Amino acid sequence: MQSENREQVHAPLKNLVTGKLIVVEGIDGSGKSTQIHLLDKWLRSLGLQVFNTEWNSSDVVKEITSKGKKKGLLTPTTFSLLHATDFADRFERNIFPLLRAGYIVLADRYTYTAFARDIVRGCSPSWVRKLYAFASKPDLTFYFRVPVDVAVDRILTGRAKLKYYEAGMDLNLSNDPIESYRIFQSRIIDEYESMSDREGFTVIDGTLNIEEQQTFVRQKVMRILPDRFRTKMTAAIREIC
Ligand SMILES: Nc1ncnc2c1ncn2[C@@H]1O[C@H](COP(=O)(O)OP(=O)(O)OP(=O)(O)O)[C@@H](O)[C@H]1O
Ligand SMILES: [Mg+2]
Repeated sequence: MQSENREQVHAPLKNLVTGKLIVVEGIDGSGKSTQIHLLDKWLRSLGLQVFNTEWNSSDVVKEITSKGKKKGLLTPTTFSLLHATDFADRFERNIFPLLRAGYIVLADRYTYTAFARDIVRGCSPSWVRKLYAFASKPDLTFYFRVPVDVAVDRILTGRAKLKYYEAGMDLNLSNDPIESYRIFQSRIIDEYESMSDREGFTVIDGTLNIEEQQTFVRQKVMRILPDRFRTKMTAAIREIC
């Protein structure tokens, strides 16, 4: 990021940021990507400018993170720092400039993922929060609340086994990946729940069917978008893609 923008990244000036930042959070398999994908298609069909960004997707650290994860080399601190670097890269190069350009930015996981996961892995809560102090607060954060067993069943319907870090196997909670996943993700749920009121999450009942959730998502999104889009959106709200 260029130096003249640096101050604005740390304390965004509301009148310069005309876009909206919408975030989905929740444990693995809670249904976040399904909903944000439908939201993306809908917003684009209405002619809005949309940008998608995913956790852990920046080219800057992708390779090293993947290598470190495959070999089980990451400690809680290096795990946290690599994800913070990934986030900073995407925030400064994409998220913030596009918000200033008036885009709707859809983020599949945001800082709250780090706050939940890294703290469960044993990092200091205040250290992790300071690490992400440059990030803007989202306009809307959907938190997908689902029981652990629902999430694990959904994941295992789609693929044969759980991933090492997804199951929290690095924490030595259990030798059985499914049991380890249950313990690890339950702790993450506790962190999300403790943030929910304080951070103003919009809670979604993740056990509802996909269409019911999408209707709820669209209703909430409509409220934060500029008036000129509202009429079009009201008519389109029930047309699930
Ligand atoms: N409401 C729902 N009811 C039943 N199945 C669902 C629902 N929402 C999503 N699924 C299915 O559950 C699986 C996980 O959904 P999805 O990929 O959206 O979760 P996620 O929260 O993005 O997970 P991750 O954090 O691992 O990326 C997918 O196979 C998806 O089709
Ligand atoms: Mg996903």
